[in-house]
Amino acid sequence: MSERLDIDVLTIFPEVVRAPLSESILGRASDEGTVGIRIHDLRDWTTDKYRKVDDEPYGGGPGMVMKPDPFFAAVRDLRKEKTSVVLMTPQGRQFDQKMAREFSVSSKHLIILCGHYEGIDHRVVQGLVDQEVSIGDYVLTNGALAAAVFIDSIVRLIPGVLGDERSPIEESFSIEDGILEAPCYTRPADFEGMKVPEVLLSGHHEKIKEWKRKIAAERTLENRPDLML
Ligand code: 6GU
Repeated sequence: MSERLDIDVLTIFPEVVRAPLSESILGRASDEGTVGIRIHDLRDWTTDKYRKVDDEPYGGGPGMVMKPDPFFAAVRDLRKEKTSVVLMTPQGRQFDQKMAREFSVSSKHLIILCGHYEGIDHRVVQGLVDQEVSIGDYVLTNGALAAAVFIDSIVRLIPGVLGDERSPIEESFSIEDGILEAPCYTRPADFEGMKVPEVLLSGHHEKIKEWKRKIAAERTLENRPDLML
């Protein structure tokens, strides 16, 4: 009995957001109406002849700043009763799996704003935005790619989108539990001399579970010791 999630994205690069979300699982979720994703060109809310979305920064400095008025006009048009406005920005709170789950459970309607250039007029943050979100500690040229990542991670958590393909053996291993997943294998059991670990062929579920737990812990210690603190 999950309600449908509606997402409006405001960007000057609609194709950058559209392409990754139209493939495979996300595309199907969209087609089936589990999620309603609408991607808008922010320039549609400009009023000047040049469809100008940015201008020089007050106080000087490099680059251009995104103007507030197209964002305000667009959000005014798109806002509904239970809307949450999210700004994708490297200045935001760092996104993780726990936040993805919270968004997928609690959201009815998201308006996602994508920043560009050196920044975005701060009155957008003050007057429109409920949450500022960064997808990690690195800088992208534009928030559009970040929006696609954000949407993908939320939509795949909506019941019915992925189907129930997780086996009970695996369900306790996930980044949400602070541990990486164990490696996985498929046929052939021997590929050019590289063999699948014997235990996985044994059919012994308790032993398999134990092995996965051990390998997962080793992997986490090696690649992500920060998760084990
Ligand atoms: Cl949300 N936007 C941009 N431009 N860069 C980022 C980011 C967002 N998250 C991490 N880097």
